[in-house]
Amino acid sequence: MSNKHLLIKKSPPLNGTVHLAGAKNAVLTIMASLILTNGRSILRNVPDSNDIRQMIQLLTNLGATVTFSPESNILEVNTSSITNFQVSPEIMNKMRASILVMGPLLARFGQAEVALPGGCLIGTRPIDFHLKGFTKLGAIIGQTGHSLHATLQKTSQENRVILEYPSVGATENIMMCAVLMLGTTTIVNAAFEPEVLDLVSVLKKMGAKITCGPGLTIQITGVHSLRPVVHDIIPDRLEAGSLLLAAAITGGQIHIPNAQPDTMDIFLEKLAQMGHEIDCSHGIYIKATTSPLAINVKTAPYPGFPTDLQAPMMAALTLANGVSEIEETVFENRLIHVQELKKMGAQIDVAGTSSRKAIVRGVKTLCGCEVVASDIRASCALALAGLAATGQTKMTGVHHWKRGYDQLEQKLGLLGGNISLIA
Ligand code: EPZ
Repeated sequence: MSNKHLLIKKSPPLNGTVHLAGAKNAVLTIMASLILTNGRSILRNVPDSNDIRQMIQLLTNLGATVTFSPESNILEVNTSSITNFQVSPEIMNKMRASILVMGPLLARFGQAEVALPGGCLIGTRPIDFHLKGFTKLGAIIGQTGHSLHATLQKTSQENRVILEYPSVGATENIMMCAVLMLGTTTIVNAAFEPEVLDLVSVLKKMGAKITCGPGLTIQITGVHSLRPVVHDIIPDRLEAGSLLLAAAITGGQIHIPNAQPDTMDIFLEKLAQMGHEIDCSHGIYIKATTSPLAINVKTAPYPGFPTDLQAPMMAALTLANGVSEIEETVFENRLIHVQELKKMGAQIDVAGTSSRKAIVRGVKTLCGCEVVASDIRASCALALAGLAATGQTKMTGVHHWKRGYDQLEQKLGLLGGNISLIA
């Protein structure tokens, strides 16, 4: 058992200016999209986190030549030497997002062999929407044990793929499969998260023919080939939310010049409802209130309240005045952090095991203790709680933190947070 942990102590109000890394959930799908091209692409503003390292490993295993500079956050990927269309179970099991190479591999080779990605603690994370979409595009998919083998006949046809839920990954995977298929594909009820739109902008730079709308539809008209790109990844709105909530829970004030407020409307509205002062004239500036109000939060697909900020928001609400209600509608088991926050003295009730609703009664103080992170965003919630709790908090499960953030503990430290990664 690794003894690596985050050590967090009660901190003064955070104060200062901080810049965002590139969005992890944009980089992962855009890295997969490079399989669609032959040649050398350059991605800038790429965060150095373990999920990114994992995707680098995957592309290398397929035959790509990848160089990454963590200092400059520049990633170079040459895909002209990709010859492999198989992804091993070991790779798939290390990171679920590996499934995002299935669409590009089908588009490039007309076939793909991948292992079923495992679930995780927040949910079973099925990929049925992805597979139904590929089948609609003409793929034939067989399963042997945990392995999937898909083949795609290159036929020109008009396809209409209806997503029963606006799945981010399914939208991305189906779009990446369709861009090299002759004919037109319409994805109905598509996801429009900013990270999906960053992928759309990259595909269009490659030469893809994509239009968004009317409504929640995306139209793709296939082309014969796509060219390598140079692209700046969008800033990470989830890191922005985490930093703003760190200021909120410590009663501080911070400025994030490269934050994009127009991708965070509902989240910022909720911060304002708590009584925090938000200024979006240049990036995002928060002046936190020292007596935050309880609010209600319900997660939803974009532009709704992001499920990836539900846990950090819950941490902030444990110290608000009054009773807050938090409902998680995107994943079936994303309240695991409740038990860890309760160890710190939070008063939270979750009705029944299958409930997706938590009632948070604000308390005056939290007490630092040993806690365990269960996923990336739970690790953020516990770190934030530790900044406000008396004494010290030791958070294990720190691999989740390192999967999702690029040295966020250093950014919090520069803002006055008492937090360090103990290897
Ligand atoms: C992406 O996951 C993100 N990951 C998640 O971030 C994020 O929480 C999620 O979108 C929602 O915004 C990446 O982009 C790498 P979904 P994804 O498909 O694509 C169900 C983080 O912490 N579903 O929109 O897997 C699914 O079980 C991670 O950074 C099916 O039932 O999310 C879930 O309940 C966590 N069948 C819901 O849809 C499918 O085929 C939303 O999933 C696909 C999904």
